[in-house]
Amino acid sequence: MNFAALVVKLKAEADALIAQYPESRSALLPILHRFQQEQGYVSPEAILQTAEWLKITPATVESTVTFYSLFYRRPVGKYMLQPCRGLSCIINGAYDIMAYFREKLCLEHLQTSADGLFSYEEVECLAACDRAPCMQVNLEFIYDLTKENVDAMIEQIRAGSFEVKPLTQTKAPDASWVGKHDVPGSGVGDASGERMLRRLEEDSSSIKAHPTSERLLADV
Ligand code: FES
Repeated sequence: MNFAALVVKLKAEADALIAQYPESRSALLPILHRFQQEQGYVSPEAILQTAEWLKITPATVESTVTFYSLFYRRPVGKYMLQPCRGLSCIINGAYDIMAYFREKLCLEHLQTSADGLFSYEEVECLAACDRAPCMQVNLEFIYDLTKENVDAMIEQIRAGSFEVKPLTQTKAPDASWVGKHDVPGSGVGDASGERMLRRLEEDSSSIKAHPTSERLLADV
């Protein structure tokens, strides 16, 4: 389906979403999700169209798309693998899980496999810290990751039997989807992340609690 036809298809739905809110811009996230479901990513055309429907600037829409790891800014693989690299997950073994993903799939942060099946991105806290280490696969949560359940997941995806459905792919993904906002080679393996992890391992006393003004008041 070309983009003009997609706009016709989604217009009534977008109008209904906008009508649900006192402020039309509140429909921004659901409209972006609909474009992503249809296109497999949020295309530049989708950003412009969403801005026009909501009467906001394309920059506002783009800043939302680039802020959330829920939105894919480039064509990606059929399975978007997003392990969490937040602190709770790191403490519970995410570093090893991410290294395992990288080694097993021969992929680095923000890369897509040559067959277009997997894209890989290490993301910030997914707000499921009580089930760390965790990840999202096509935005569905997978909890309590181990190397064994990573093996099972990859095997099932390759066999076409995984419980999470593949993403729509309307455009072939590039090998890397690093954008102008990304630092090439970043991810948990980047220099600052490595330094932080080494410091945590070697000297946990470097993490000091600073008394807050509230605590000082309570201590009086
Ligand atoms: S740190 Fe991973 S979900 Fe919060």
